Amino acid sequence: MNKQTVKDVDVKGKKVLVRCDFNVPLKNGTIADDTRITAALPTIRYLRDHGAAVALCSHLGRPKGKPDPKYSLRPVADYLTKALDRNVGMLDDCVGDQVAAAVSNLKTGEVLLMENTRFHAGETTNDADFAAQLARGFDLFVNDAFGAAHRAHASTEGVAHHLPAVAGLLMAKELDALIRLKENPAEPVAAIFGGAKISDKIGVIEAMLGKTAVLLIGGGMANMFFKVQGLEIGDSFIEEKGLDTARQILGKAGSKLMLPTDVIVAREIRENAEHKTVSVDAVAPGWRIVDLGPASVDAFTQRLKEMKTVIWNGPLGVYETRPFDAATIAMARSLAELDAETYVGGGDSGAAVNQAGTAEKMTHVSTGGGAFLEFLEGKRLPGVAILKDK
Ligand code: 3PG
Ligand code: MG
Repeated sequence: MNKQTVKDVDVKGKKVLVRCDFNVPLKNGTIADDTRITAALPTIRYLRDHGAAVALCSHLGRPKGKPDPKYSLRPVADYLTKALDRNVGMLDDCVGDQVAAAVSNLKTGEVLLMENTRFHAGETTNDADFAAQLARGFDLFVNDAFGAAHRAHASTEGVAHHLPAVAGLLMAKELDALIRLKENPAEPVAAIFGGAKISDKIGVIEAMLGKTAVLLIGGGMANMFFKVQGLEIGDSFIEEKGLDTARQILGKAGSKLMLPTDVIVAREIRENAEHKTVSVDAVAPGWRIVDLGPASVDAFTQRLKEMKTVIWNGPLGVYETRPFDAATIAMARSLAELDAETYVGGGDSGAAVNQAGTAEKMTHVSTGGGAFLEFLEGKRLPGVAILKDK
């Protein structure tokens, strides 16, 4: 990686603003998946142990540029207090006089967390004044939010115009892994895409087509392929504007493309709803496709055994509704058995390898969703571009 990291600069005695991606799923005010928080700990510990005074900032969810208690980062401060075994103070804001006073009083080895940057409209508009206010009182900016690096926001990009800016350890780890994947993958390469919408992923799918031997499609996006092939899909999810995309990919991918041959269909999307396995040409009106069938899972798995690199993004079924997570979990298990480098990106696929207990067996599990895809597509990530070169 050609960017400077926290290890390339002297952090001793410095006040350091760290942008983390603490955009974690919350359920009734508690953290439903802590992956992104635990991934940020090495940078926080490194800075603390090397004599820096540390203030953390992040967005959470999509509040509309004003405070909304639903999106408070307070649960993350509580989590960090336990994980770091030291009080992590929570500020009610990320800019303003009270924040400036807290930053000015911040001592070496202390860590505090600022409130959601998206409580200000200037965050997503990358307002220059807001970015300058964020930088106030700090000596160094560390971007560790790989998951938000595709956003040119004040806390990911704008603030770096006011402070020397380097990568955190998570950011560096992500970039090292993904640069290798993009520039020098062991061949042959397979890509597995799932999730509901295909229009979001057209760019990355097209970019990957030139590099992959096989492209496996599952999840809701497979429906668009079934539909353009003239198959009945009943009441299954459909993205109208995705139909053209599917047609284009069918044309370009040729024999590289592998689609499911059987699917699980259910009457409704509800836990343990009535369901059955059918061939893709036997989906009846009134039913909806909710997962890959066992024969498709088997066929995908067999095909992957010939690969040296596998990239996976997006769930293969309605992952959040049991038992329609079965194929996604099965995929998380099969990847662990392969003699290949495995790269997993996106919230649900990441959660699946955690749930299956196979995350440790993957070459890399990215904390990014959109950032992971945009990077592979070859887009420039503003939150990375702004960091100091080595
Ligand atoms: C993510 O979860 O994809 C990142 O945290 C970015 O969030 P956003 O899509 O709301 O900008
Ligand atoms: Mg996103």
